[in-house]
Amino acid sequence: MADKPTINFGLDGVYVDESSICKVDGQNGKLWYRGYAIEDLADRSNFEEVAYLLIYGKLPTRREYDAFEKSLKERIQLPKEIMDTIRIMAPSAHPMDVMRTATSMLSMYDRDPMNKEKENTIDKIITLLAKLPTIAAVTGRFRNKKEYIPPDSSLGLTANFLYMLTGKKPNDFESKLIDLMFILHAEHSTNASTFSVLVTASTLADIYSATTTGIGTLKGPLHGGADEAALKMMNAIGSPDNTEKYIEEALEGKKRIMGFGHRVYKVYDPRAKIVRKYLEESLTKEPSQEVETLLKIALRAEKLMVDKLGNSKGIWPNIDFFAGPLYRVLGIESELFTPIFVASRMAGWGAHIVEYWTNNKLFRPLEYYTGPIGNAYVPIEKR
Ligand code: COA
Repeated sequence: MADKPTINFGLDGVYVDESSICKVDGQNGKLWYRGYAIEDLADRSNFEEVAYLLIYGKLPTRREYDAFEKSLKERIQLPKEIMDTIRIMAPSAHPMDVMRTATSMLSMYDRDPMNKEKENTIDKIITLLAKLPTIAAVTGRFRNKKEYIPPDSSLGLTANFLYMLTGKKPNDFESKLIDLMFILHAEHSTNASTFSVLVTASTLADIYSATTTGIGTLKGPLHGGADEAALKMMNAIGSPDNTEKYIEEALEGKKRIMGFGHRVYKVYDPRAKIVRKYLEESLTKEPSQEVETLLKIALRAEKLMVDKLGNSKGIWPNIDFFAGPLYRVLGIESELFTPIFVASRMAGWGAHIVEYWTNNKLFRPLEYYTGPIGNAYVPIEKR
């Protein structure tokens, strides 16, 4: 038998492609979308502009922006069959399962779902970008036995999401917070879900199949599901004074502390720093006892984890750690955190699909076989 090859479990450290979409500098805690620093985009841009930037590779002119925004607004509503399906599923299924199913259904309304021409692919991405926030909002309504709220055409995509979810027009600060979360989650190079999207896309399946694959991958608590899991942990800790005991016991029990650690970042995730900054600002702008307590727990957990594992193992807070408390400023329930992540990551997934299809190559890695060879087949009645 051939010598055992080097196996990079979990593709750790393996490059699978070239890309000009996103640069993650894990040693220095830096992130750029198409060359623009995440801090600038977070403070100065908005989600529509960032989605345009990721997909087209440049910032839009005013005219391009207006046309893009108009297309999104025109497509925001969902077909009746999808609304009905969400109504059936939402009371008992996790919102990510609803999201996966509803997204898959969108292919029914595309007369040419297998079309892979660049302009047609971008058109499909715009449809998905417009409808995924609505799927998340409607799911949030129906799972709580509330009625559908139609979008308000005076609002942007992310503020509309919040409006359709809560029935209340967000103020400027609330609009900024939800938009910020969409910007920060929009893209992050070839992480697990983006890779899975590309694996499906590389077979030349359609974009709805690729997106559904991505949603399934994002659900797991080691990836997108960490935001929901981290908030649940903070709620289980309950009181700030309980934080150290809870974390110490969890670590002794070899449990993972959700919202910490990252395959690429070995320092503080720059997105987590941004979320923390806005979270602290929220305490003066939208004071809330719940959020104040969550932030105290989060900061004590952060201090302990960084003292114990920061420099020694490179385990620092990631974006998912502070995301939950920030969503609570907006009154969003934890089960909707990952669906919001999906709706924003669609921009990155879409950008990667467009890029990958310009030079498509089927993903087909190898595995090192360790089982037997040449077994004698015995008929079932003789076993
Ligand atoms: N809490 C406690 N220990 C952690 C940890 C965490 N959140 N993340 C990693 N570790 C420890 C592991 O136990 C392991 O320790 P060991 O070397 O003693 O066995 C070491 O750090 C390396 O972990 P490993 O799982 O091999 O690294 P990875 O690169 O595969 O892990 C994650 C990356 C994200 C899967 C991991 O950090 C994790 O599970 N984090 C929690 C989930 C999360 O927040 N995910 C969102 C990422 S944006």
